[in-house]
Order: sequence, then C-alpha cells, then structure tokens
Amino acid sequence: MASDLLHIDNLTVTVGGTIPLLNSITLSVKKGEVHVLMGPNGAGKSTLGNVLMGHPGYEIQQGSIHFDGQDITHLETEKRARLGLFFSFQNPEEIPGITLENFLRTSKSSITGVEENVFIFNLALKKIMKDLDMDPLYANRHLNVGFSGGEKKKSEILQLLALNPRLAILDETDSGLDVDAVRVVSQGIKQFHNPENSLLIITHNTKILQSIQADHVHVLVKGSLVASGDTSLIRRIEEEGYAPFLGQGGS
Ligand SMILES: Nc1ncnc2c1ncn2[C@@H]1O[C@H](COP(=O)(O)OP(=O)(O)OP(=O)(O)O)[C@@H](O)[C@H]1O
Ligand SMILES: [Mg+2]
Repeated sequence: MASDLLHIDNLTVTVGGTIPLLNSITLSVKKGEVHVLMGPNGAGKSTLGNVLMGHPGYEIQQGSIHFDGQDITHLETEKRARLGLFFSFQNPEEIPGITLENFLRTSKSSITGVEENVFIFNLALKKIMKDLDMDPLYANRHLNVGFSGGEKKKSEILQLLALNPRLAILDETDSGLDVDAVRVVSQGIKQFHNPENSLLIITHNTKILQSIQADHVHVLVKGSLVASGDTSLIRRIEEEGYAPFLGQGGS
C-alpha cells in the first residue's frame, strides 16, 4: 500500500442515504500503472470516478480513499485536483462564459499555484492542439459550447495534456469518436503517460488501448468488483460479453 498512488479500501457508497451504488470496492493503482475498468451499463463505473473526485452527491458509508499516502476520503474536489487527480467526464458539460484557453490556463494556475504566463501557455496549448489534430481556433470558443460529441472528448484529452495530472481517470473518452479521432486520442494518452503518472481508463471500447499497454483490467458489476486480471480479461469480455460475470455483483 505504501507505494500505491491510489488506494481504495473497502469503499461502500450510497446515494439518497440508502441506495447502494458501490459495494466494498478495494482497488490499488501504483505509480506508472495503467488500469482499465469495464462493466455493463449502470454498473457504477462513472459513480466510482465521481466519488474518487469528491462529488458531493454521494455518501461514503464505509471505507477510505488514499492518494499518495494521504487520506482524501472526505477532501474537497478542488484540493484533490491540486494533489494531481483528474477526471474526464463521460458527458463533458458546456460552460458558457469562459473560453477553453482561459479555462485551462486558470485551472493550471490554480492547480500549480503559479500564475501561468499568457503567451507561453498559449504557445504550449497550440502545440498540444496540433498534436491532437484540433483547430487552434477552438481555444477561443467557450468551453465545450456547441462542440460535437467527438470534439468534447478531444477537448478532455487536451485538458489532460495541458494539466498533466498524476492520476487520470478517463470515463469513456473514446465514445463517439470516429476511427481517426480514436487513434489521435489514443496517441494523446500515450503522450501523457510516463512512469511517474497513472491512468484509470473506463471504457467499453478497447480500441483506445491500441497505443498503450494496460497493466490491470477490472470488471465492475452491480457496484461490485467481480474480476481483476490482465488484458486477457478484455478478450474474454469481447468474446463472451458480461454474461459470465453477471450474478456475481450486488450487495
Ligand atoms: N445521483 C444519482 N442518483 C440516483 N442514481 C444514481 C446516481 N448516480 C448514479 N446512479 C445510478 O447508479 C447506477 C450506476 O451508474 P453509473 O453512471 O455509475 O453507471 P456506469 O457503469 O458508468 O454505466 P455506463 O456504462 O452506462 O456509463 C445507475 O443505475 C445509475 O442510475
Ligand atoms: Mg458511465
């Protein structure tokens, strides 16, 4: 546990006081590792991502979350972001009133505590946008407003690369992307990853893993982790679906 970047211990989460969404989840992610979280619709994958980021809409009934040895179970979202957690939303919100570039520069300044130089940040952002095959004019558009589904997902990867967190939780970042965009996003994830950071990739579509080697694969069913293993688990799911795992989850 000492060397874990993220350690989730026996975590049980409800919403509305009683409805259980996650049951006794225990999961560890070490520095440098890539973990994949799979599971049928409604299993609780996004809920886990939200809870790890400190979403106030969920109640932790038992268990703990440690990040780099620090207990963050009840820490505010902003402080988690400062520690280096990043969550890319399954359905990124449109935020009128702030441009993508201003949002990213302000976020980065807030996370690092160092005021970003406007000119230098703009140059760095343009470079990342070029790598992601994004039109630089999108930096001046209001955050995700009017972006297509795929453009929103690319914008999330732009945020990932600009903010450079220590643990990135990516929630279906590949959904709604065309074949070329999947390749670009997958390359973006590869570009981000290094031995000092970690990824928890929530996905239904393993094409996003074409550029990156996953170390561990977990299957979540009805709020419970029912299987963990290597990438052979992905092949098994692709061939047999979730049927062999159903009936194992739930409280
Ligand atoms: N705030 C909430 N209030 C009530 N129910 C919720 C809330 N958040 C999540 N749920 C329920 O918890 C279950 C898990 O939802 P979640 O979004 O985590 O699933 P998922 O595994 O991400 O599914 P998908 O693959 O479809 O994205 C669903 O039945 C969902 O309706
Ligand atoms: Mg989800």
